Amino acid sequence: MLDFDFHNPTRIVFGKDRLAELDTLVPAGATVLVLYGGGSVRRFGTLDKVRAALENGRTVHEFGGIEPNPRYETLLKAVEKVRSDGVDFLLAVGGGSVMDGTKFVSLASVHDGDPESLLYHGFAGVPAAKALPLGCVVTLPATGSEMNMGGVISKGDGKFPVLCPLTFPKFSILDPTLTYSLPARQVANGVVDTFVHVMEQYLTFPVEGRFQDRTSEGILLTLIEIGRYTIDHPEDYDARANLVWCATMGLNGLIGSGVPQDWATHMIGHEITSLYGLDHGQTLAIILPALMDVRRDAKREKLLQYAERIWNITGGTDDERIDAAIARTRAFFESLGVKTRLSDHKLGVEHFDAVIKGLEAKGLTAMSERGDQTLEVSRNVLKAAL
Ligand code: NZQ
Ligand code: ZN
Repeated sequence: MLDFDFHNPTRIVFGKDRLAELDTLVPAGATVLVLYGGGSVRRFGTLDKVRAALENGRTVHEFGGIEPNPRYETLLKAVEKVRSDGVDFLLAVGGGSVMDGTKFVSLASVHDGDPESLLYHGFAGVPAAKALPLGCVVTLPATGSEMNMGGVISKGDGKFPVLCPLTFPKFSILDPTLTYSLPARQVANGVVDTFVHVMEQYLTFPVEGRFQDRTSEGILLTLIEIGRYTIDHPEDYDARANLVWCATMGLNGLIGSGVPQDWATHMIGHEITSLYGLDHGQTLAIILPALMDVRRDAKREKLLQYAERIWNITGGTDDERIDAAIARTRAFFESLGVKTRLSDHKLGVEHFDAVIKGLEAKGLTAMSERGDQTLEVSRNVLKAAL
């Protein structure tokens, strides 16, 4: 097992009807900015409940309109509001985009220099000394943003990871019933996103991380069990509760501690989202099966473990088992209603140059757990995804 530090300070408040507890979770007397997206939290009554819980000696301001794949320019408007209203606590109410955007606002509001510079630290993390404290009320299980220190911010035609330990939420309320109103497409995206987060931390090379492997496999098997079911039965509490908890545990640092990590599927997916507007989950369902195929030699041992432990594939040659595991993965995503080919979205070879250029511009020329995924390999992944 590799060396690691593991520290996760986020309090999780899990269960039905717990929004009233915001009154104890948010500091007394705080000036709070509640940030949200395009209006789903207003339509479904969540915002009213949040306000009711907070308006007990606190000043509450609102900032709505954070779009999916949150945009830098939009977030700067929230920063202005934080400064002009003297806000000292941020509350994100929404999905990954709202939580990520709020993390950026938490850094940018107290940043002395140009806020754009916060975008360009990549996986090394932002060397910030201060950030406003924030909490989350989660309405979409997918990104794990509610219990990690990362956000992804869009500017121009790029998506930029912004990581900083100061932006771990102080708390996150996970009430599965708040997700009942999600359209099927977003639930499916959430299942795929969680599945691929686990795979990015699992499908590398073995390092005797037995706990991490078996925990990852537990999440994958749970998603396979409940993924389609929770789309068809959105108000089955226990199925949805399992999805919510899998999403959080899939990307809160636990399963990735002490093991190599990849993230190439995400990086290629981000380029496709910023250039062609596909949802984050949609891009992952296309790239992962293709990457498994192209990277089969580098990932052979873990691919065979995945085939056996997740899909019970034990017969045939190594390559036949790997082919079967890829086919099962693809079929799982398709069973959720998520397409797995670039051509399903009318994307073809003519779009590859722009994707490769975007990767190159961000220095993503030696990706994956071994640093051996060159731009040429990424192009081969795109070809395999056609
Ligand atoms: O904006 P509103 O009106 O709220 O509607 C949203 C949005 O249109 C809607 N929605 C959310 N909760 C709902 C709901 N509709 C009905 N009922 C509810 N309860 O869903 C739509 C999508 O929301 P969004 O927040 O964009 O989705 P998601 O949670 O999938 O977040 C995607 C973003 O997270 C980033 C992605 O790159 C993307 O920008 N990621 C963040 C990560 C992290 N912080 O660790 C890791 C991920 O890999 C990912 O990159
Ligand atoms: Zn993701």
